Amino acid sequence: MVGETGSGKTTLAKLLTRLMDPTSGQVLLGGVPLEQVRFASLRRRVVMVPQDGFLFDLSIADNIRFAHPGATDSDVVDAFAVLGLADWVAGLPDGVGTRVGERGSSLSAGERQLVALARAQIAAPDLLVLDEATSAVDPATEVRIARALVELTRGRTSVTIAHRLSTAQSADMVVVVDAGRIVQWGTHTELAGTAGVYQQLHASWTAGVTGL
Ligand SMILES: Nc1ncnc2c1ncn2[C@@H]1O[C@H](COP(=O)(O)OP(=O)(O)OP(=O)(O)O)[C@@H](O)[C@H]1O
Ligand SMILES: [Mg+2]
Repeated sequence: MVGETGSGKTTLAKLLTRLMDPTSGQVLLGGVPLEQVRFASLRRRVVMVPQDGFLFDLSIADNIRFAHPGATDSDVVDAFAVLGLADWVAGLPDGVGTRVGERGSSLSAGERQLVALARAQIAAPDLLVLDEATSAVDPATEVRIARALVELTRGRTSVTIAHRLSTAQSADMVVVVDAGRIVQWGTHTELAGTAGVYQQLHASWTAGVTGL
């Protein structure tokens, strides 16, 4: 899902995960209206990785346990390992026991997203809704996020709000949101060859270095 800032991408992600309910219309998941799906099963099967991950002033493992109370430290370590992040965690002062500071301030925005990805990995949802971080991420973290996403999205349906050309290029389908409405959908190649909002976005991505 791509679109200008303020076009309604995060809003759509919140509707998909019932962090918000629509004032009109309906969201269907596999043909079933979302309001008919029990919250407990929705929370288990649909997980959202937010744009700016919020963390509590606790250890990394405790932050992940907030969402999954049964997870042991070794489950948490395993989740990072599956995502290729074992070395990153091992490099922290106290591994998964490292405290993240107030609102996660001892980690960078990109590193907070790594924690959110591990949290999603433990949840093992059927549908992953990922709101890519808009804030600048250092190149090393960027590579880690990209690698982790390959593993996290493997074998599951994912809806990614993309701020990077590379993400849109690798998607099976690109949905373009503009002023609160879906205005285009298709593959990257189709949309890049069609006059419209996507072509303009694509031009601005390729002209600037941001997001590449
Ligand atoms: N709870 C709300 N009530 C009313 N309007 C809202 C609410 N949340 C967001 N908006 C507005 O809806 C529009 C879409 O916001 P949204 O956060 O979905 O944009 P976005 O596409 O995710 O943007 P960005 O790329 O900056 O993350 C914006 O104009 C925003 O100000
Ligand atoms: Mg947003």
